[in-house]
Amino acid sequence: MASIRTQVGIVGAGPAGLMLAHLLHLQGIESIVLEHHSRDYVESRIRAGVLEQGTVDMLRESGVGERMQREGLQHHGIELRFGGQGHRIDFQELVGKSILVYAQQEVVKDLISARLGYNAPLLFEAEAMRIADFDAEPTIHYQQGGQRHVIACDYIAGCDGFHGICRAAVPADRIRLYERQYPFAWLGVLARVAPASHELIYTYHERGFSLLSMRSPEISRLYLQCAPDEDIASWSDDRIWSELRTRMATREGFVLQDGPIVQKGITPMRSFVAAPMQFGKLFLLGDAAHIVPPTGAKGLNLAVADVRVLTRGLVERYRHNNREELARYTDRSLNRVWKGQRFSWWMTSMLHRFPDEDDFSGQIHLADLGYVTSSRAASTSLAENYVGLPFDTPGLF
Ligand code: FAD
Ligand code: PHB
Repeated sequence: MASIRTQVGIVGAGPAGLMLAHLLHLQGIESIVLEHHSRDYVESRIRAGVLEQGTVDMLRESGVGERMQREGLQHHGIELRFGGQGHRIDFQELVGKSILVYAQQEVVKDLISARLGYNAPLLFEAEAMRIADFDAEPTIHYQQGGQRHVIACDYIAGCDGFHGICRAAVPADRIRLYERQYPFAWLGVLARVAPASHELIYTYHERGFSLLSMRSPEISRLYLQCAPDEDIASWSDDRIWSELRTRMATREGFVLQDGPIVQKGITPMRSFVAAPMQFGKLFLLGDAAHIVPPTGAKGLNLAVADVRVLTRGLVERYRHNNREELARYTDRSLNRVWKGQRFSWWMTSMLHRFPDEDDFSGQIHLADLGYVTSSRAASTSLAENYVGLPFDTPGLF
């Protein structure tokens, strides 16, 4: 069994693992990234689409933002639609910031190309089977091409998503899990048709939530609230377009053009936090430690924020032999994570129709939406959270 050594062993090449490897490289810290799937698979996996300004700045300042700046769509606000009427939340006017619509798989492509460009180790189809001894001398045991290998490292970064092995390796009495399941899911489609709006539209309707988003001036990304056990086979393209039109209809006669649907999928909705996020020399980042329902567009952004905190800690540790920042990793990250959880839970609760909802609850949704779109204080709060709360640690650049 071949054994190799590195400073930081990174499990998972999603946004968290790739961004961490990239920032560490820029700081002269070595790492090896293991990814279970193929390059093609991770580069074409369709997930999130909204980048907070802080995420955009990190990508740009670390030298991987060139294509993002060219192709990303800058949005200065969103629309909340209910009762057949749209209400714009103007981020730029309320908080002086904006967001960028740029698909997660494009961020992943840019980070992979940077890493391979400077010839740093990124192993695809390499599955971590087990991590061991993370309180003392950590090792990662992985399998690639039928061969077994071991990486010995100073630290392990568990960036292996919600179903990964790193969180699962922590003994139950050292970790606390907070969880909420929602009684609905999202049916998401990618359609080859120009988006019917320049900005995202979040709609509350008595038949359920819907969202209009986009990937480019030619590609729309649309979502419909559905049952968690929905059978996707019962959703023909015609049924999807017709349901979207019903939910998004306005008194002014909003027009939603249809087009070929090129991808369909169902995303479950869950809120989840694991605490702490560090165990000796093992650190959990991104979806490995926390999941949010996608209504607040926070998942990817929270993953990148963890990377920022851990990178700072590792730089202090390697450059000044100071372990204080590393010791604060959980506190610093969870502070942001819980605020992201609260916002995502609130947006989800306000905009979805719950199965047991009565008329009273329906009126409360409308009052919540009426308030948030008419009070400057309330819309400022939404805007401030949506564009991303300020980081409480200084940047790296
Ligand atoms: P991931 O992107 O999950 O990356 C983890 C990586 O680890 C994967 O590439 C996986 O293959 C790899 N891995 C796992 N186990 C191993 C192992 N044993 N060995 C080696 N590699 C391993 N967020 C939004 O904001 N909006 C959305 O619309 C949205 N849609 C989503 C749809 C889906 C289906 C999912 C699952 C998530 C969605 N999210 C969305 C959330 C967002 O995509 C995640 O928050 C983000 O991907 C987190 O990045 P990550 O790097 O932490 O984890
Ligand atoms: C997306 O474009 O995929 C998207 C946008 C906003 C969300 C969730 C998903 O809140």
